[in-house]
Amino acid sequence: MKAVCWHGKEDMRVDTVPDPQILNPDDIIVKITSTAICGSDLHLYGGFMPTMEAGDIVGHEPMGEVVELGSAVTKFKVGDRVVVPFTIACGECFFCKKTLYSLCDTTNPNYEMARKAMGQSPAGLFGYSHLMGAFPGGQAEYLRVPKANVGPIKVPDGIPDEKVLFLSDIFPTGYMAAENAEIEPGDTVAVWGCGPVGQFSIQSAWMFGAGRVIAIDLVPERLQMAQQKGKAEIINADKEKVHERLMEMTNGRGPDRCIEAVGTEAHVGTGIDTYLDRAKQAVMLETDRPHVLRQAIMCCRKGGTISVPGVYISMVDKIPFGAAMNKGLTFKMGQTHVQRYLPTLMQKIVDGEIDPSFVITHRAPLQVAPEMYKTFRDKKDGCIKVVLKPGGVV
Ligand SMILES: NC(=O)c1ccc[n+]([C@@H]2O[C@H](COP(=O)([O-])OP(=O)(O)OC[C@H]3O[C@@H](n4cnc5c(N)ncnc54)[C@H](O)[C@@H]3O)[C@@H](O)[C@H]2O)c1
Ligand SMILES: [Zn+2]
Ligand SMILES: [Zn+2]
Repeated sequence: MKAVCWHGKEDMRVDTVPDPQILNPDDIIVKITSTAICGSDLHLYGGFMPTMEAGDIVGHEPMGEVVELGSAVTKFKVGDRVVVPFTIACGECFFCKKTLYSLCDTTNPNYEMARKAMGQSPAGLFGYSHLMGAFPGGQAEYLRVPKANVGPIKVPDGIPDEKVLFLSDIFPTGYMAAENAEIEPGDTVAVWGCGPVGQFSIQSAWMFGAGRVIAIDLVPERLQMAQQKGKAEIINADKEKVHERLMEMTNGRGPDRCIEAVGTEAHVGTGIDTYLDRAKQAVMLETDRPHVLRQAIMCCRKGGTISVPGVYISMVDKIPFGAAMNKGLTFKMGQTHVQRYLPTLMQKIVDGEIDPSFVITHRAPLQVAPEMYKTFRDKKDGCIKVVLKPGGVV
């Protein structure tokens, strides 16, 4: 089959690789019909994620048709259409029982490697390095899905791929980011990053009762989407001083809840710290560029909450932790417990409360994935979200 494979920094290729096989009785094989490129994939593309190996199949936002079943699969039959969460969870361990699926204790075969890096290992993830389990990813014609009785969700008849595809990651991620922000009715919620995760954080902040949503980014068309589709007030961090603007907009108190949907690759806003981070990152003195995390801590109102869906990889430098402590801030973060949110969010889509396809700007066959990575990373051609179609774009 064809699959998108990582070969090094900024080097994704479409390779011919062996078709996946059923390995365990609770596996299914899915023929992929739609699969997206995520901001998290850009950390692989940029070479920031350690333990990637040449030839690794990437991608973790897939859906498609079940074509083969292991003998212990009870939840699906051949021909079912399913969306596959990026987190692989057993459903039975201490963490899964608490619905902390992205922290599943049993699905990372490279547990020891992760334990050395983090103290304990989180769950295995599709297409996201050997540290996270070396699971072949979903930017491919076929995908083996382990723990099929726990992860994937069946798509009701008549609902097109594009409405449900983002249940695999970014819609639940935005939703959990808003839940983690501990929004109280009427709160002002500031969202840094108007990429796909930021867009769904904005949509979800309203669902949790926000009174105002303020969106911050540097890319005009992303801000425009936040304003038009997300009904957010906007700040362009390239042109305005974010801290000053937020204070003006909140009578000097700061936003009650801050969502950091940018992560480790923050770009230069109006601050100089990002230049220092880039220099340190280049010589491996720092793995991440936490410009936005710093800014959120300084802007958040006293006693507020900072929710971090943005991915960090290892070490961050010069976090104003004293400010966070003395201002009594709460931090909540993590890889999304996708399985926890699937029934609720599928229902919202079926009921027409939200159509997540509004973020899609690019549709392309799998073969042009390498080009699409570049377009998405560089935010060229108005690109906000790319959907790859292994069967071709119809
Ligand atoms: N927690 C999870 O489970 C989970 C799931 C999916 C994605 N993520 C992470 O969420 C983050 C966002 O993902 P995405 O798909 O939206 O990616 P993206 O790269 O499209 O979006 C990031 C956005 O941040 C903006 N940005 C950069 N610097 C900024 C600054 N200084 N101030 C304000 N905005 C700035 C960029 O212009 C861009 O629009 C990534 O770190 C990704 O890895 C986490
Ligand atoms: Zn993702
Ligand atoms: Zn588990």
